[in-house]
Amino acid sequence: MSNLNPISAQAVQQAVDHALASVEAAVDLAALKAARGSIMGEQSQIVALNSQLGKIPQEFKAEAGKLVGQARGAISQAYASKEAELAVLEERAKLAAEFVDVTAAPATARIGARHPLALLQETISDVFVGMGWEIAEGPEVENEWFNFDALNFDEDHPARAMQDTFFVDPIESHLVLRTHTSPVQVRSMLDREVPIFVLCPGRVFRTDELDATHTPVFHQVEGLAIDKGLTMADLRGTLEHFARSMFGPEAKIRLRPSFFPFTEPSAELDVWHPGAKGGARWVEWGGCGMVNPNVLKAAGIDPEEYSGFAFGMGIERTLMFRNDVKDMHDMVEADVRFSEQFGLVL
Ligand code: PHE
Repeated sequence: MSNLNPISAQAVQQAVDHALASVEAAVDLAALKAARGSIMGEQSQIVALNSQLGKIPQEFKAEAGKLVGQARGAISQAYASKEAELAVLEERAKLAAEFVDVTAAPATARIGARHPLALLQETISDVFVGMGWEIAEGPEVENEWFNFDALNFDEDHPARAMQDTFFVDPIESHLVLRTHTSPVQVRSMLDREVPIFVLCPGRVFRTDELDATHTPVFHQVEGLAIDKGLTMADLRGTLEHFARSMFGPEAKIRLRPSFFPFTEPSAELDVWHPGAKGGARWVEWGGCGMVNPNVLKAAGIDPEEYSGFAFGMGIERTLMFRNDVKDMHDMVEADVRFSEQFGLVL
């Protein structure tokens, strides 16, 4: 009897080393599973040795059987512990990938932004409230008498057509969409006791087509001051202060003779805009003048005792100059991306 076992200890050790190396090499569960066949399955060296057991001479069987059995045990143990180790790692990686920071700030919906015209209207109001003026309001659907007659427009004054008015049906109702904020002058004089210092910002309407510089619905701000002894100098001083509040300390104003039925004398108001894009320049800003004595009389105020001044300008125009807004469409469309540029002031 040869003392050399056909299933040598070295052959078994080599099969074990090979299997353990394959177990070690697996980087994840899928790789380990894929290698299972060559580690301890049909294609493995250890299974090949195992199947030789039946063919070797009887006297070697016990020893070889023990060697091969122990080897199989060691391999399947190594496989199982590697499997458990990889399972833990994969579970951890999965948890890390799915990590949710419950303390993180939640995603919120956009909070929107106030319309720059509304903001500017408030800024303007603050300038005058700061001087002790009051804010006055009037209806947008206005009586023709307040919009025209009381403001000294003749029955067939060209200004009535000039204003391009929206008349409300039926025509006998004598209602119009106010074409300017000046009717609030008359309402204020009727409602209040002199002296009067009121500012009226509000929506006005004219039959203009919407384009880059026109819109049929826009905003004006009207100022009216009635007191004893008011002169053009007071008007000038007030407008200069207003202009500087809007366009900076370098701003100045210029009055050019003009005509409005409700002021006498009347003037066009230009403002020197020092911060204008493309260089400082004069821009037409609005109209103004001393309140016509006929308007004072229509409101029951004695023009011998009291005098007053008034002015009015477009808020859209003011925003265009102040913030270099080039197209009226941006103001009308109210896209939040436009409004946001002016800040989220509440
Ligand atoms: N109401 C005039 C306009 O809309 C502006 C104005 C107001 C002029 C007050 C003089 C005084 O054009």
